[in-house]
Amino acid sequence: MQEIKIFSPLDNSLLGSIKSMSKEEVDKEVGKAKEAFYSWKEMPLSQRADIMYKAADLLVANTKKLADLLMMEVGKDQKSATSEVTRTADFIRFTADTAKSIHGESIQGDTFSGFSKEKIAMVTREPVGVVLAISPFNYPINLAASKIAPALVSGNTVVFKPATTGSLCGIELAKLFMEAGLPEGALTVVTGKGSEIGDYIVTHQDINFINFTGSTEVGLDISGKVHMVPLLMELGGKDAAIVLKDADLEFAAKNIVAGAFSYSGQRCTAVKRILVLEDVADKLIHYLKIEIEKLKVGNPLNVQADVVPLISEKAADFVWELIEDAKQKGAKLVIGGTREGTLLYPTLFDEVTEDMRIAWEEPFGPVLPILRVKTVDEAVKLANKSEYGLQSSVFTENLTDAFHVAGKLEVGTVHINNKTERGPDHFPFLGVKKSGIGTQGIRYSIEAMTRVKATVINLNR
Ligand code: NAP
Ligand code: G3P
Repeated sequence: MQEIKIFSPLDNSLLGSIKSMSKEEVDKEVGKAKEAFYSWKEMPLSQRADIMYKAADLLVANTKKLADLLMMEVGKDQKSATSEVTRTADFIRFTADTAKSIHGESIQGDTFSGFSKEKIAMVTREPVGVVLAISPFNYPINLAASKIAPALVSGNTVVFKPATTGSLCGIELAKLFMEAGLPEGALTVVTGKGSEIGDYIVTHQDINFINFTGSTEVGLDISGKVHMVPLLMELGGKDAAIVLKDADLEFAAKNIVAGAFSYSGQRCTAVKRILVLEDVADKLIHYLKIEIEKLKVGNPLNVQADVVPLISEKAADFVWELIEDAKQKGAKLVIGGTREGTLLYPTLFDEVTEDMRIAWEEPFGPVLPILRVKTVDEAVKLANKSEYGLQSSVFTENLTDAFHVAGKLEVGTVHINNKTERGPDHFPFLGVKKSGIGTQGIRYSIEAMTRVKATVINLNR
């Protein structure tokens, strides 16, 4: 059996190892999920929901253990790691509540001309079958459970492929779901590198639905290979914070800095560029600098840090390349631009122009470019020029302007006077363009992973 060793990004210590599964081993896990589907979907919804409540309780009971592992495996600070676990328990409970509140409907035929009311459609929702849940490294508990719980509670079985970095957390999470009372096969775990087993599993004939979160690159690759299998995808982003002339600049700066630099910007929803009206740019930068200087930078093993070492040397090198490119092309470094190994200091660039990579690429690291604009229309145009369309923020004191801009932005969510962020988790969450396919959020996730079934009765016989 081949193994993959998992090392901590914080101190390079060996945390454990996972199986690099062969095709036969993957088949076995998918086979178990397929077999379990028929009995799991017949279990009364209230009982499936009770298992979810139990799983949430177990998560809370194991908060410290999971948060410690999260910190070591994906380099999250203790506070964020703890909140990821408790947020996930809330998510699972809310999912069970929501599933119980989704009802079907009946439609009488005579609402359509030429048909009688004796013809009635009963519209219900059915699970889709075996859901393949693939999660990324950055929220190994939350972005796994946000696929697993809505899929399971609706009667699907799940094959879960955690990101390799994050798989120890993923395996612990799956164990807690099992301990909560899931029958054998309702949730199975496949491990191994996506580059090795990915193609095999996404094209597996017994997978009925793929729920994927990760990079646009891998998302595009999967969507090109899969045929007639529905996809739900959350991919990359380049969220813009648009700051209008009348914005409360101090407030905007606080929001933007928190949104851009927490967990070193390793969040799909991080603020990844600022588009500011040039009349107020200098003043905004003044406040941004003050907020950035307050950030704690360091290793979560030693300090409760906001900016932590990046997940890998490769990730840090990539962000560094973007910084070098911006410097070379004449961007003005406001603060940061230094590095100690994988720890990059929070970096702010002013006077970024469209020829610079940082204007368009997702760094997934602590670097934030400012593009000055002359008009609101120019800000909207630049915002929409991105290949991504996850979220945007608009900062202004004028709600009419805010709605005007929000209406023009090609993104899934616009935040008015707020940083970009996913939560609360029951809000719809989606990306347009290359940021995703379909909509998540608790009710939306359940709806996505179930299909409508109409049973029509003819009383007129
Ligand atoms: P990633 O490299 O795309 O990996 C995501 C998942 O896909 C991992 O489980 C990975 O497994 C697997 N994978 C890799 N190659 C595959 C293949 N050919 N077929 C099937 N699966 C494959 O992303 P990441 O570095 O973990 O996460 C960062 C990215 O995710 C960023 O772009 C970020 O914006 C995005 N993200 C988006 C959201 C959102 O909600 N929109 C949320 C979080 C993150 P291995 O780990 O084994 O390679
Ligand atoms: O990048 C993952 C996404 O789920 C982040 O959530 O609430 O921190 O924006 P949030």
